[in-house]
Amino acid sequence: QDDIFKNVVSHAKEYGFIFPSSEIYDGLSAVYDYAQNGVELKKNIREYWWQSMVQMHENIVGLDAAILMHPTTWKASGHVDAFNDPLIDNKDSKKRYRADVLIEDYAEKLNQKAQKEIDKARERFGASFDEEQYKTTNPRVMEYLSKKKEILERMARSLETENLADVKALIEELEIACPESGSKNWTDVKQFNLMFGTKLGASAESAMDLYLRPETAQGIFVNFLNVQKTGRMKIPFGIAQTGKAFRNEIVARQFIFRMREFEQMEMQFFVKPGEEMKWYEYWKTTRLNWHLSLGLGKSNYRFHDHEKLAHYANAAADIEFNFPFGFKELEGIHSRTDFDLKAHEQFSGKKLQYFDNDTNSNYTPYVVETSVGLDRMFLAVFSNSLQEEVLEDGSTRTVLRLPSVLAPTKAAVLPLVKKDGLPEVARKIIDDLKWDFNVAYDEKDAVGRRYRRQDALGTPFCITVDHQTLEDETVTIRHRDSMQQDRVKISELRDIINNEVSM
Ligand code: GAP
Repeated sequence: QDDIFKNVVSHAKEYGFIFPSSEIYDGLSAVYDYAQNGVELKKNIREYWWQSMVQMHENIVGLDAAILMHPTTWKASGHVDAFNDPLIDNKDSKKRYRADVLIEDYAEKLNQKAQKEIDKARERFGASFDEEQYKTTNPRVMEYLSKKKEILERMARSLETENLADVKALIEELEIACPESGSKNWTDVKQFNLMFGTKLGASAESAMDLYLRPETAQGIFVNFLNVQKTGRMKIPFGIAQTGKAFRNEIVARQFIFRMREFEQMEMQFFVKPGEEMKWYEYWKTTRLNWHLSLGLGKSNYRFHDHEKLAHYANAAADIEFNFPFGFKELEGIHSRTDFDLKAHEQFSGKKLQYFDNDTNSNYTPYVVETSVGLDRMFLAVFSNSLQEEVLEDGSTRTVLRLPSVLAPTKAAVLPLVKKDGLPEVARKIIDDLKWDFNVAYDEKDAVGRRYRRQDALGTPFCITVDHQTLEDETVTIRHRDSMQQDRVKISELRDIINNEVSM
């Protein structure tokens, strides 16, 4: 699994998808730049989301609120007081850990111990070995697994009640249970706020402390009434937005999975109080179907219903995806009640209510939110699509089987040779197709190598211009996934490509 993940990171760099930020200065941890192909793939994911959420829903409209917001926003939203991670420092190594992640790592060690026992038994018993049965009958394996479960439950309880002394005690207990990690010397657990601060204004005295937004959602809440009135929106309705968010994450690992600057695609759906659970279920299903429509495989998704809820929610679930490092959160669906609108009403003194014409009364709507990380979507799509294939002749090819609708370049046009007027014909085809699709031109190297390069970039089609083209205006069109080549008329190309790459 580690190898697969390393491959994903190096492929993303080598083929111009993602670079470390400011790399010439050795980069900035958990910050990344999207390169020439990455920016196209990211844009296509964003558009795919926008079309399905805004274009396809009469009652959902878009918004692009500013990243900088009045600082009281974050007091009202609860982020100043409650958007914290528990941190613990090690006095010996002088390293800082997120306490919950540290505990999860220990739990994972117990899991690995159990797995070792299972693997040993599998070797001993051979083909007749039944892993599930062994897990529930072998005392040692049972001990490791039940200890793991107990630890995670205790951690969840201690964090929920913000009992940080218990969290510390748990870590110390785990040091003893997993002595191979060496004895450690811990400080107390502290809460650490994840928001990035900045200043507005030039002089030190008059400057105003601001935050970079840690979620896009609040830009929607503060504009709720503006949009509702000017758009004459009737409940239920939604406001959708994509944009940057910033979090000073302590655990910065796993590439673009957890970043300090990232992009969210969020939608707040305003409903009548009492109807929120119906809509919560509706959006859970609708969002899962959206993910499934990309064809990355149903078994790669699962729901995780939250027991521990954020300060604003009365129900919450994650859509988890099977990343190269296991199932992890990709999208959150939260029933946020009237928490945010009520809080902004209280802090601003402005009434943020909906007037219901049918009943002639005002009420504060409830909110169901869907929130997906664009970068995480990128990682899900990219890592799932990257495949090494062994071909019939025994050679291997690297192919990025991106959903065609998301591919950065839809077709590459390749003159078979750099002479005899073939490049000119290829350019003409490009001039015609580029009005509708991103198309690329490539004349360097043997055509076989050019095909492989386009495979690695995820380009669904290669169009080859050869000498026959000069006689009958036909070209070969090669399909990335099957590698099948068909001879078709130049005039048919647009329809063939369009059929495959449109939503
Ligand atoms: N408005 C709700 C909200 O922000 P969240 O669960 O904190 O909820 C929503 O974040 C989504 O944003 C996550 O499911 C994830 O896809 C993405 N996300 C959150 N933190 C991230 C980070 N540090 N790097 C990349 N994506 C992140």
